[in-house]
Amino acid sequence: MNARLIRFAAWILAMASSVAAQPAPEPRLPNVTLLATGGTIAGTGTTSTTTVGYKAATLGVDALVAAVPELAKVARVTGEQVFQIASENMTPAHWLQLARRVSELLARDDVNGVVITHGTDTLEETAYFLDLVVKSPKPVVLVGAMRPSTSISADGPMNLYNAVALAASSDAAGRGVMVCLNDQINAARDVTKTDTATLDTFRAPELGLLGVMEAGHPIFYRASTRAHTSATEFDIGAVKELPKVGIVLAYAGSGRLAIDAMIAAGVKGIVHAGTGNGSLAIDAKAALVEARSKGIVVVRASRVPGGAVARNGEADDDALDFVVADNLSPQKARVLLSLALTRTVDTREIQRMFWRY
Ligand code: DGL
Repeated sequence: MNARLIRFAAWILAMASSVAAQPAPEPRLPNVTLLATGGTIAGTGTTSTTTVGYKAATLGVDALVAAVPELAKVARVTGEQVFQIASENMTPAHWLQLARRVSELLARDDVNGVVITHGTDTLEETAYFLDLVVKSPKPVVLVGAMRPSTSISADGPMNLYNAVALAASSDAAGRGVMVCLNDQINAARDVTKTDTATLDTFRAPELGLLGVMEAGHPIFYRASTRAHTSATEFDIGAVKELPKVGIVLAYAGSGRLAIDAMIAAGVKGIVHAGTGNGSLAIDAKAALVEARSKGIVVVRASRVPGGAVARNGEADDDALDFVVADNLSPQKARVLLSLALTRTVDTREIQRMFWRY
């Protein structure tokens, strides 16, 4: 009996040592899908010092991935070329198509996160739209660049590495759509392009960044207080085309010309980027009252980059049946109003949405 026990014990020990000797399997890297849409990050210039006058949207997604072999250290990246455009040419139709592809991908168990390369000009609008409609807590990160891929010290490769590392991070889940450039992590709702040329252009001037990327790892300092992604009421499933919403910029002597043009064009909503605290010049107010009488929803925003537009402050919104944009920029207010109009034309309900998102 003892001999059999000794043989069995020896077998167990031999098995244990052989297992211990085997190298621990590499931890399985997260799967991140890279959706390329164009922009400067995919841009090429004629010389290494060309930082303006280059051609945006020339490199394909495979070239973007190949330029950063380090991506393979942080994620298993699969690339898709969704569009190849400069982002000034992005439209709500592009937003809908992109949102549907993102949602399809995030619904798959084998996709852990999505990164979207995008031109910087309208990146903040696409990011906010996705923040309001993508029903998943999985990370969605938008990234761009301020220098073309061919320039000295191009910022695209490190921005792309950081964006993929962020999307691959379990700590990035549930934070809403994020924008990651220049080692900084910003919330889609709060971020805006603040400079036409510098690498640190994406900022949230009043509310600040969410966190930073340090050596490929996110460090978060705050979270947004506004509802996003899975917590929103918006569903684009049956939306073929977003309701048309225009933006009118107010300036000294701007009058009612642009508002009348919007009315004639048949928009469903007008965002008025007023002076100061959303002030309305006499003739502009008269035109907006006419617009409202035709069923157009009017949102008072401000051309001023900071602060919120106070309801019933510079105009009697209750009496005029107008909505105020809170602290959303005119371009972000337009994104939200477009989506709000897919749900309702009730201005009280729409005002609630501007307080919530
Ligand atoms: N044409 C601009 C765009 O695609 C270039 C700016 C950029 O991508 O950084 O948004």
